[in-house]
Amino acid sequence: MAGSILDRFKEAVEESKEITTDKKIRIGIIGTGWIAEAHVANYLKCPDVEIVAAADLIPGKAEKFCKANGIEGVRLYPDHKSLIDNEQLDAVSVCTYNKTHAECTIYALEHGVNVLLEKPMCVTLEEAVAICKAEKASGKILSIGFQPRFDENMKMIRKIVQSGELGQIYYIQTGGGRRRGIPTPYGTSFIEEKTAGLGALADIGCYSLDMVLNAIGYPKPLSVSGYTSAFSAPIRITTRVIPNTPRSSPLTISPQRSSASRTTSCSTSAFPGP
Ligand SMILES: NC(=O)c1ccc[n+]([C@@H]2O[C@H](COP(=O)([O-])OP(=O)(O)OC[C@H]3O[C@@H](n4cnc5c(N)ncnc54)[C@H](O)[C@@H]3O)[C@@H](O)[C@H]2O)c1
Repeated sequence: MAGSILDRFKEAVEESKEITTDKKIRIGIIGTGWIAEAHVANYLKCPDVEIVAAADLIPGKAEKFCKANGIEGVRLYPDHKSLIDNEQLDAVSVCTYNKTHAECTIYALEHGVNVLLEKPMCVTLEEAVAICKAEKASGKILSIGFQPRFDENMKMIRKIVQSGELGQIYYIQTGGGRRRGIPTPYGTSFIEEKTAGLGALADIGCYSLDMVLNAIGYPKPLSVSGYTSAFSAPIRITTRVIPNTPRSSPLTISPQRSSASRTTSCSTSAFPGP
């Protein structure tokens, strides 16, 4: 039964478009650390994309990055503002640590530049609201870097769910963690309070949240709540009721107009046993 359902959906052919323009999309890279390498590697595969500028707060880092990643003739800047002020860009990749996601993204959108923003979107709800407002006001495109959405398995799950084959989805459980430790090829800015601002739920949990919410069509939540804990620290329970909605319960996100709920759990690092 399960096999026959999968076979049915496998037959669907993805649409692909051939690009027939000489115009190159002019890209700026903001933050030239670890993940920026992946952005550059993929831009280099696109014949209609040109990386024209890069910026990093750390002196000399952007230059070293460009050399190491084989991009030449790129103008270099000491921060996101000078890059955006001095270039005519179509888009920027915001590859900075979490705490500067909002300021870089809002500045780019306010200056008419499309943004590919690394996950997690930002650090506070207030920042998220400000980013969404800036996107609406700009008329530009903001995309958050949730690449697992484009994974073939995830695309298949979304297709099956959206087809109605599984009926109404009323409960989803998801989770995530790193099984091979914390990857630290260039430091740990994504887990340190002063640069990341958030913990495992934001760093890793945002993927699992996005994957399931994307599969079910991003219903508007009624309430969001959860708890945080650490070694030798008391558990802190936080509940945030979305305005104008009546109820909340721990560790659930309840989509509007249905009784659906989901839970997620994640850890920054879990090593396999001996
Ligand atoms: N999508 C993925 O698979 C994936 C994987 C790893 C990291 N990430 C995300 O990418 C982001 C960056 O992570 P990383 O490991 O590459 O960090 P990193 O510390 O290696 O690089 C971030 C760089 O941004 C620079 N920076 C910060 N604010 C800036 C500003 N205003 N202007 C210019 N440069 C600025 C820093 O100086 C630093 O060099 C994080 O938000 C992380 O969650 C995503």
